[in-house]
Amino acid sequence: MRIVLLGGPGSGKGTQAKKLTETYSVPQISTGDIFRAALKEGTPMGLKAKTYMDKGELVPDDVVIGVVEERLSKPDLGKGYMLDGFPRTLPQAQALDGMLQRLGQNLDHAVLVDVPDEELVARLAGRRTCRNSDCGAMFHVMFNAPKKEGICDKCGSELYQRDDDSEATIRERLKVYNKQTAPLIDFYDKKTLLRRVAGVGPIDEIFNQIKKVLG
Ligand code: AP5
Ligand code: MG
Ligand code: ZN
Repeated sequence: MRIVLLGGPGSGKGTQAKKLTETYSVPQISTGDIFRAALKEGTPMGLKAKTYMDKGELVPDDVVIGVVEERLSKPDLGKGYMLDGFPRTLPQAQALDGMLQRLGQNLDHAVLVDVPDEELVARLAGRRTCRNSDCGAMFHVMFNAPKKEGICDKCGSELYQRDDDSEATIRERLKVYNKQTAPLIDFYDKKTLLRRVAGVGPIDEIFNQIKKVLG
């Protein structure tokens, strides 16, 4: 199963991808997570990506496409994968089509997790993420609180707040999403791959809706 998860910043792509990974045994490929891991290692690519991420802007297409091309060439994707946060621009979507064509593969679904902008701001402002990158579980101080404040339920590591989750950067990310990424909804609709799921409500209910559309 090869799917793309579409949706604004904070729509729950990562939260749902983690659950889907467990159910369908296909890896989550999050370009945002790849950039944050590269930054932690201090690689030139990570440092370059950070300058865009901190402003809420998109990392340039050529960098992102290179990263995804490399990831898709790894041997662990026999059962498929879930792309979380890629593609995010039309050139990225076209590049993905080209990669799939070269590999003789198809996309099965583009799932849009649909959430209104105001809800997104509240979600991101209260998000907490596990520092252990092998875990990376997401929590929310109000909507999905960890059992013990500041500690990951799953692995016991410390939780942190992402640098780009400040109010000003959140607003910029929303603008960028609506301008540069939202056109992909139409792009995948025309290919009859778009599956729209209402992304507001309990996390498990949204998960059930997604499982339904994946069949
Ligand atoms: P990325 O890391 O992909 O961030 P994003 O798209 O802004 O999305 P988020 O990860 O913030 O949100 P999410 O949808 O995963 O939501 P989550 O599950 O965490 O990208 C970061 C940056 O990297 C970009 O700004 C860009 O600079 C760069 N980048 C990445 N990919 C790129 C690309 N392809 N091209 C160019 N640049 C790229 O949930 C959010 C919160 O809500 C959590 O606290 C969660 O607990 C809570 N929550 C989840 N579901 C619910 C629910 N149903 N009800 C209530 N709360 C909920
Ligand atoms: Mg995410
Ligand atoms: Zn954890």
